[in-house]
Amino acid sequence: MISKRSIERVFETAKVEDVVGNFVSLKRRGVNFIGLCPFHNEKTPSFTVSPSKNIFKCFGCGKGGNSVNFVMEHEGYSYIEAIKFIAQMYNIELEEIQMSDEQKETQEKRDSLFVVNEWAKKRFSDNLFKTQQGTNIGLAYFKERGFRESIIKKFDLGFAIDDSKDLTNAAARDGFKAEFLKELGLISKNDYDFFRNRVMFTIHNLTGKAIGFAGRIMGNNPKLPKYINSPESEIYNKRKILYGLYFAKNEIRKLDYCILVEGYTDVLSLFQAGIENVVASSGTSLTSDQVRLIKRYTNTIKILYDGDAAGINAAMRGMDLILAENIMVKLVILPENHDPDSFMKEVGPSEFLKFIEENEKDFILYKTQLLLKETSGDPVKRAYILKDIVATLAKVGDPLIRSMYVKECSNLLDIDEKIIVSETNKIIKKEIRDKAYKRQRENISDASMEVVDEVGKRSAPSQSLLARSDEYQERAVTKVLMEKGHLYFDEEEQLLVADFIIMNIMDTLSYFENKAYKRVIELTIKERERGNIPDQLFYSNNDDSEVRKMYVELVMNPYDYADWSSRGMELQTQKPPEKNQVEETKQAVMRLNYKKLNKIIKENNKKMSEQETNSEEFIMLMRLHQKLLEEKKKMALQLSIVIQ
Ligand code: CTP
Ligand code: MN
Repeated sequence: MISKRSIERVFETAKVEDVVGNFVSLKRRGVNFIGLCPFHNEKTPSFTVSPSKNIFKCFGCGKGGNSVNFVMEHEGYSYIEAIKFIAQMYNIELEEIQMSDEQKETQEKRDSLFVVNEWAKKRFSDNLFKTQQGTNIGLAYFKERGFRESIIKKFDLGFAIDDSKDLTNAAARDGFKAEFLKELGLISKNDYDFFRNRVMFTIHNLTGKAIGFAGRIMGNNPKLPKYINSPESEIYNKRKILYGLYFAKNEIRKLDYCILVEGYTDVLSLFQAGIENVVASSGTSLTSDQVRLIKRYTNTIKILYDGDAAGINAAMRGMDLILAENIMVKLVILPENHDPDSFMKEVGPSEFLKFIEENEKDFILYKTQLLLKETSGDPVKRAYILKDIVATLAKVGDPLIRSMYVKECSNLLDIDEKIIVSETNKIIKKEIRDKAYKRQRENISDASMEVVDEVGKRSAPSQSLLARSDEYQERAVTKVLMEKGHLYFDEEEQLLVADFIIMNIMDTLSYFENKAYKRVIELTIKERERGNIPDQLFYSNNDDSEVRKMYVELVMNPYDYADWSSRGMELQTQKPPEKNQVEETKQAVMRLNYKKLNKIIKENNKKMSEQETNSEEFIMLMRLHQKLLEEKKKMALQLSIVIQ
């Protein structure tokens, strides 16, 4: 274990501009440095590093923090790994404090397992490049499939010799304990090699260490499985790993979506073609742990399925589980008889991406359409579908997203929205009740209180959330503006809270319902244009009596803070109000814009209904409609992250 003192030393020594400078090319601008943000895609730099505050901050995507946070985020490291990285950078010696014997033993064992795997990886690689069998069979096979040497090396591909003692003997020669190789599944109980005559795929963890292997058979032997995998071990849990994520994570974050394929070779093929935001679930259906891994980097996942019945069925299975993770799922069904690897070879990268773009379908809507096709008008069957769809809808955790799906499914199925809502709520209520009973049985009284609360929240018809007026959000923004507009949103950038609000709600100001709030904001804009800072005096002493009244009403209201937190919108991380201006401003603005987006969507719908279907105008509006819905889903997901 690293001592607290050394960790403090790391924090004291680390200069954010040095640490970030390892990964991002920075230019000086005034007292700060700027560069292109590594966490999202941008052409003009909004990523700022402040040496005086020792933090970084991106004004594009909002990511920010200290040196350790940066390394964790950028490299996917754990806290301790990031500390170690920075310590190494500055040659800081980390003081280890005594672990108990038991702790030491597990740590030593884990370390040994990693060392052994690293050794095996090297051996498989040497086999591939430096032995005759390896080059003639393994390397020839990879080349035949079109994999270039650079990708073979990058992904640590290798070859297992057709000899039941090759690895076993080599390990003994190099002084590795058979016990560890057995634990890792590299050799069998009776000291025989587990992988034989197979090309080898190394499975990496998020820090790039080899935690397991998969071997694909050479030649055609229908009696043997095509792929065999390392068994689970102390360092390899296949439910918690995605093949390729170590290499894909930065690109996933940049492009803000993740492509999920089934096979190892699919990942290699796409990656080699320059599509680097790709991972594989490796044959098993996706687990929630894996979805959570993806969620560290993006909220959108595009699943590519082979264009056969098995592929489509696979798409339907297990998906409800994924929806419960509040992630946006798109399906892309590839042309018949193709997997991603073969399709890429046929059409090349740009056509491939175009195909995804043109064929991606929202999962729930796709499922609805597919089921609908199967019923061909049979009313009994249709009732059955409803049950199925409603079960899926109930899994969508976010009420706002759910209600949007309800609407679209109601259109598709031609079933009244109210029926779908009430059926969905029945299931949700039942699930919550079941959970509550379970917890009661487990005698956790506090937790069951929480569940009772949850019943009230989740069983409320989600429609009402959308239908409610926007005034609550308008008021929240106006309040922050009057109360904290004069404070810094970002001091280095000399950006006031007022400026941030003005910048971000300009476009939606015309949609305000409450004209008095709108007026306060317009007056503030004028004041800023004159170069003045709109402080509290500006509002409390304003020439406009309505503004003065509003100030008293909103800012002097002692109940507001309690009201806000009792709505469950803020959780443990909430700081006292005066320290919270940045977060508070961001949340208020985001919530308001979400509401306004709904308005814009409605208005667009109305315009569409006034057009001839299929007219050019209509198609344009339709496109806009789709864009808006996308935006809405994204925002809802973002909000649910903040709300959670
Ligand atoms: N798989 C497995 N065990 C098997 C078959 C398949 O673990 N016996 C997993 C592997 O992760 C494989 C994926 O399922 O990559 C997809 O299987 P498949 O489409 O058969 O293999 P491909 O990846 O297409 O491999 P190849 O192109 O080499 O045939
Ligand atoms: Mn294949």
